Amino acid sequence: MEHNIETLLANINGFVPADKQQLEDFRIQYAGKKGVLNDFFNTMKTLPNDQKRAFGQQVNVLKNAIEEKLLAFRQQFENTDDVDSSLDLSLPAEPLQLGSHHPISLVRQQITDIFSRIGFTISEGPEIEDDWHNFSALNFPEEHPARDMQDTFFINNENKIALRTHTSSVQVRVMENSQPPIRTISPGRVYRNEAISARAHCFFHQVEGLYIDEDVSFADMKQTLLYFAREMFGANTEIRLRPSYFPFTEPSAEMDVTCFLCNGKGCNVCKYSGWVEIMGCGMVDPQVLDNCGIDSTKYSGYAFGMGIERITMLKYAVKDLRIFSENDVRFLRQFSGQQL
Ligand code: PHE
Repeated sequence: MEHNIETLLANINGFVPADKQQLEDFRIQYAGKKGVLNDFFNTMKTLPNDQKRAFGQQVNVLKNAIEEKLLAFRQQFENTDDVDSSLDLSLPAEPLQLGSHHPISLVRQQITDIFSRIGFTISEGPEIEDDWHNFSALNFPEEHPARDMQDTFFINNENKIALRTHTSSVQVRVMENSQPPIRTISPGRVYRNEAISARAHCFFHQVEGLYIDEDVSFADMKQTLLYFAREMFGANTEIRLRPSYFPFTEPSAEMDVTCFLCNGKGCNVCKYSGWVEIMGCGMVDPQVLDNCGIDSTKYSGYAFGMGIERITMLKYAVKDLRIFSENDVRFLRQFSGQQL
């Protein structure tokens, strides 16, 4: 009997089931009602009392070995229980859905890249501004409609703290804190109290530029903006400057570019004129330079400002700017793979 138990023990310890069924057969053979273990227990009952103890200890060793084996392989087979055998685990995993850059970020980056290449730095400022930086330093008269509650979101009516309505406020800060030569662009989000529609939103993004040095002329501005337009919209692009008005520039102009969708032939984007307006610009009013601590008898400069949404709409033929802030992945996914 002793020999028998040792052989059994060796068999049990060496047993490796290939699947669940083999493990079950093992259980029935050894631990089942009519199994080996019960045979031993029945035998034990028939033994004289003085042999029961030694025999019982050996049977217990056997029992533990059987239980250990069952436990170990049960766990192993259980873990694979819910794996669908039709799955091919050697296949590559599902690709992770990568996000995409927002078209506004892409175009902002493109604009800042173009100006960086000709020596413009990038400056940033607060979105919550005081009256001085957003309006007064820029020559907005007291009664200017932009200062009205209807056009500006005021945070505090008493001290006229407001959400900036343009990033010209950043340029005031740059002028206050440095001396010419100044060449900087300020990209950023701006806010205006407008009814939301396909063409207007209460917040949007701008890139404004400022160039101040000795003897800076309108011709310098025109050439820089022509360079920008051709880098942005293609080498055949032409520009057109139309007289306009801004409180902080004199003279002021609106800049149009030839419609790059129809190449000037006329389409519904350019409303059959062949031109699309993309920015405001002009020579910085000497009073503004003086307001910001720059000697207007020595220095002159130009400034310009454009809306990123508008340029993005033209570039990607987007008809409704509300889609830029709706987070619709069907729209955003179309820009995947494009790097900043
Ligand atoms: N600040 C003007 C705007 O927000 C744009 C502009 C900037 C115009 C600089 C002229 C010169 O509309």
